Amino acid sequence: MTGVFITFEGGDGSGKTTQIELLKSWLEERGHTVVVTREPGGTDLGNELRDIILHRKGFIAPRAEALLYAADRAHHIHTLVAPALERGDVVVQDRYLDSSVAYQGAGRVLDPTEVRDVSLWATENLMPHLTILLDVPADVAKQRQDSDERAYDRLEAEAEDFHQRVRESYQRLADAEPERFVILDGTDSIEEIHHQITQKVATLLS
Ligand code: ADP
Ligand code: TYD
Repeated sequence: MTGVFITFEGGDGSGKTTQIELLKSWLEERGHTVVVTREPGGTDLGNELRDIILHRKGFIAPRAEALLYAADRAHHIHTLVAPALERGDVVVQDRYLDSSVAYQGAGRVLDPTEVRDVSLWATENLMPHLTILLDVPADVAKQRQDSDERAYDRLEAEAEDFHQRVRESYQRLADAEPERFVILDGTDSIEEIHHQITQKVATLLS
């Protein structure tokens, strides 16, 4: 594959969507063909699964939830991301398998290695070249989400200790793979974070 695969990770409201839009424009101004996509979602099937995972009323067993995210991921990578990388595009993706390790592993308390292995099987071991982790304390993320006045989905509605476990899991993941991850302070200004991201991406593309 000749393309470049960049993923964004972090808690809900950490600023991923904001930074992805800015990075897309920055890359396009430099002549790159960019595919912006997200998980869950990113394909028609993925959007149907997203609706179930995020908005279905009632209990979903933790392993079923993990497999629904993995099913979305398998289809998304096979039909959209891998072909884009084969063409040589830059794929900028909102969440990938680190989200499953953090949310289903640490959040739902499943074995993180097993959760990761399911995703690796689903994606035929596709790993990002760069993962940008936006780190934001839970109370700041919550304030931002409250001011957006959007209804909380099933995961966002989880208690504070769930989100604290997710944040700590992300930190462990980043520590374990420092060559893939960059951790940025998501409470910095939007412009400052964008500047730091473009510095990293410029190095990756050079
Ligand atoms: P995510 O995609 O991670 O859920 P968003 O990009 O949608 O996050 O941002 C959530 C909210 O926080 C939005 O209202 C956005 O304008 C705001 N926001 C994003 N980045 C920052 C930042 N660095 N400082 C302050 N507010 C921010
Ligand atoms: P997303 O749409 O990125 O929400 P936000 O923009 O608010 O961060 O993700 C939807 C939710 O799904 C989010 O709470 C994180 C969760 N999620 C998992 O639990 N596991 C996964 O593998 C993925 C991709 C997302």
